[in-house]
Amino acid sequence: MTTEHHIARARQEGKALAVQVGFNRTNAACVATSISEMASNLFFHAHRGGTITLSVLNKPGAVGLEVIAEDDGPGIPDVRLAMQDGFTTNRGLGGGLPGTERLMDEFEITSRVGDGTRIVAKKWQPCP
Ligand SMILES: Nc1ncnc2c1ncn2[C@@H]1O[C@H](COP(=O)(O)OP(=O)(O)OP(=O)(O)O)[C@@H](O)[C@H]1O
Ligand SMILES: [Mg+2]
Repeated sequence: MTTEHHIARARQEGKALAVQVGFNRTNAACVATSISEMASNLFFHAHRGGTITLSVLNKPGAVGLEVIAEDDGPGIPDVRLAMQDGFTTNRGLGGGLPGTERLMDEFEITSRVGDGTRIVAKKWQPCP
């Protein structure tokens, strides 16, 4: 994840995987949009880029997708502030992180200045 077209590719791969494992259109769109927000943050904020890892999860009654976005960029000094709607250091909209938290069912972010940022987000699709 180092160039801008990787953002679209990650989004498309995530959407295809979601559909393949049985996600409905709405939930697949939630996953796809979240991936593109996390990927664009890697591109715009992490300097050297980072990685997006997708995994399929299973639990009784539901199939899930886990998205891990990881970088060894500058880190986020105040994660609580970065999670607020409208907070941006880059003249963005500041909607990427809070939007992703809302679109996914589970969302964890850890970041250390000088070390990098890691987000683990999960979305569950109930089995029919
Ligand atoms: N991977 C990252 N590494 C370092 N800082 C980050 C990272 N991701 C987010 N940030 C910081 O958190 C802020 C908020 O991120 P968020 O995605 O919500 O908004 P944005 O990227 O500024 O704008 P947009 O609405 O276009 O996504 C960013 O402006 C940046 O300062
Ligand atoms: Mg963003």
